[in-house]
Amino acid sequence: MKINQTTEDDITQEVLRRFQGTADPRLRQIMQSLVTHLHAFVKDVQLTEGEWWKAIEFLTKTGHMCDANRQEFILLSDTLGVSMVVDLLNHRKPTGATESTVFGPFHRDGAPERATGEDITGIAKGGTPTLVEGRVLSLDGKPIQGAELDVWQADPEGLYDQQIAGIDGVNMRGKFHTDREGRYLVRTTRPVAYSIPDDGPVGQMLRAANRHPWRPAHIHFVISAAGYEPVTTHLFDSVDKYLQSDTVFAVKESLICDFKVENGLCKCHYDFVLKPKAA
Ligand code: BEZ
Ligand code: FE
Repeated sequence: MKINQTTEDDITQEVLRRFQGTADPRLRQIMQSLVTHLHAFVKDVQLTEGEWWKAIEFLTKTGHMCDANRQEFILLSDTLGVSMVVDLLNHRKPTGATESTVFGPFHRDGAPERATGEDITGIAKGGTPTLVEGRVLSLDGKPIQGAELDVWQADPEGLYDQQIAGIDGVNMRGKFHTDREGRYLVRTTRPVAYSIPDDGPVGQMLRAANRHPWRPAHIHFVISAAGYEPVTTHLFDSVDKYLQSDTVFAVKESLICDFKVENGLCKCHYDFVLKPKAA
């Protein structure tokens, strides 16, 4: 019997052919494009068998690092810049609407409902007391009443609650709502720069590439309101030294704000602007 797959390019063509029967057209497009680019990459770098093994071990370790509190695959996507490319492709915002950025691996469902001005600090110690306030507005500047702000933040030591052994329940998190004028008020501590978890394969990759693991100080928000597109975003502290080199590439200029300290209290003002839901 004659077998026609004799060269590496023949293999690529044959693999593409075998995905041709995929019933879902989007899945077919994704799989065929994946095969095209993956094969091109392997041929481009002339991957050795030893390197292929290293890649398998790396991905296996990445999977083994994942559990309910640790998502090493999201970290990998984030540090390779893939998460931000996906963000940019999927959230083209009209001028004036608040820009989105990475979701990251540390959001938790079920954050407690908070009253306006309530403190999310909980058991966290230290840090500069901080008020974050502003409004949630529509593109034409009208206040949005009842918008939800799901807020989460690392503590003054740079750790999220699920990274701290022995914490029961949530900390440095909360769901706030806007009042009739679209106002919100969050009491917290000034965010600090922190290192993403670098004790796994992603950390190994960063060190091999002589890259640092730091994220500039930020507070996370998901803002949603009936009739509007939700936005997943951060507010970044304008004086942070990692703004230009965020290890996950997530800084957008429009999300940088001043945290001003007066008499020991830090204040940050930011108005979020939501885009109407597509009809
Ligand atoms: C975060 O900001 O929580 C985060 C985002 C991406 C990777 C690691 C952490
Ligand atoms: Fe974060």
